[in-house]
Amino acid sequence: MTLALAEAARGKGFVEPNPMVGAVLVSDDRLAGSGHHARFGGPHAEVAALAATPGSARGMTMHVTLEPCCHFGKTPPCSRAIVEAGISRVVIATRDPFPLVSGGGIEELRAAGIHVDVWPVDSPVARQAIRLNRPFFKRVLTGRPYTIAKWAMSLDGRIALATGDSRWISNDRSRAIVHEIRGRVDGILVGIGTVKADDPSLTARPPGPRTPRRIVVDPRAETPIESVLVRTARETPVTIFCAANAANDRRKALESSGCELIPLNASANGSLSPESIVEELGSKGLTNLLIEGGSKVLGRFFDAGCIDEVAVFVAPALFGGPAAFPPIESKSVRPMESIPRLAEVRTSTIGSDTLIQGLVQSDWCATLEKSLSR
Ligand SMILES: NC(=O)c1ccc[n+]([C@@H]2O[C@H](COP(=O)([O-])OP(=O)(O)OC[C@H]3O[C@@H](n4cnc5c(N)ncnc54)[C@H](OP(=O)(O)O)[C@@H]3O)[C@@H](O)[C@H]2O)c1
Repeated sequence: MTLALAEAARGKGFVEPNPMVGAVLVSDDRLAGSGHHARFGGPHAEVAALAATPGSARGMTMHVTLEPCCHFGKTPPCSRAIVEAGISRVVIATRDPFPLVSGGGIEELRAAGIHVDVWPVDSPVARQAIRLNRPFFKRVLTGRPYTIAKWAMSLDGRIALATGDSRWISNDRSRAIVHEIRGRVDGILVGIGTVKADDPSLTARPPGPRTPRRIVVDPRAETPIESVLVRTARETPVTIFCAANAANDRRKALESSGCELIPLNASANGSLSPESIVEELGSKGLTNLLIEGGSKVLGRFFDAGCIDEVAVFVAPALFGGPAAFPPIESKSVRPMESIPRLAEVRTSTIGSDTLIQGLVQSDWCATLEKSLSR
């Protein structure tokens, strides 16, 4: 299964909104073939592994990272291909909560006389498989994209100097990792404060398998017409979320420059609901959304429970100065016992920087666990 999981990960950025899946065929404890779902609309991993196996696969064991599908989608059901190939045992890393599968794949295989084993949901193998497809699972269960909050900060916890200058806090290697993440997500979101301070391009350099939509939370439609984002909006899409009462002339100017404007009803304090923003982005088909800041955007998304994962680069530098630009400028103060603690934390050393990644648990995670534990 370790090999099947490595196969699955090769599809990252290429297969979304589908899940990443890998499959391995074993005969007499020897590897006979392997494959992965390589691109959206292309053959599924099980079919790819069968195709990569010389001769007949009759009597072999298949290890697959996700429950095989049993419905007609862009391709015929994998459960049928497995039955027709004469596989005698299938080992599955995790069930698939997708309503058209959700245990149906396992039932079909068993009904055909195939021995099926599923890794326990709390086993390291299942946890790795679940983590790999968290974005897919979230989209299936909520219709919303999976959100990764990323920031770079000084050791004293600032994402910019009090002057607003944030270039550059992290080192070249850390920034290369950010570009790699950018190249496999569907959208990159920032606030208007960041656009004004940094005039960012929000592109992946070098490009990755996906071209992310650039998204700005800009209640008063103040994104400058001369900004890099607006000047390049016809090449790489820019979506601006503004308040429904933002000045018409500003909205029109941005629209005629090629930006997409999405008006939302703002609350009494002028805030646009992060839930509405992710809901809207989900309906546009986004699976992965990278939230790059600044302080206020991250604070609003945090307060709304709209952060699923964090990737924080900590640089060994001390900013001092007034308490400007914390990573999360949030209004809510929670009791210590209910602050979110990250799960499945990974810490890596990137030259002199430290990258800390971890998962944030929210309501949909409990639904997922329940549906996978059946
Ligand atoms: N180190 C890093 O990784 C990093 C990354 C990005 C940015 N930065 C730095 O962060 C600084 C900017 O931070 P910031 O907090 O000023 O800017 P920001 O979060 O990018 O944008 C703040 C602006 O967006 C509005 N806004 C955000 N979310 C909103 C929502 N849900 N509804 C309505 N309005 C919303 C705010 O409105 P209100 O005024 O009404 O609150 C405010 O006008 C810059 O200096 C930038 O360089 C650093």
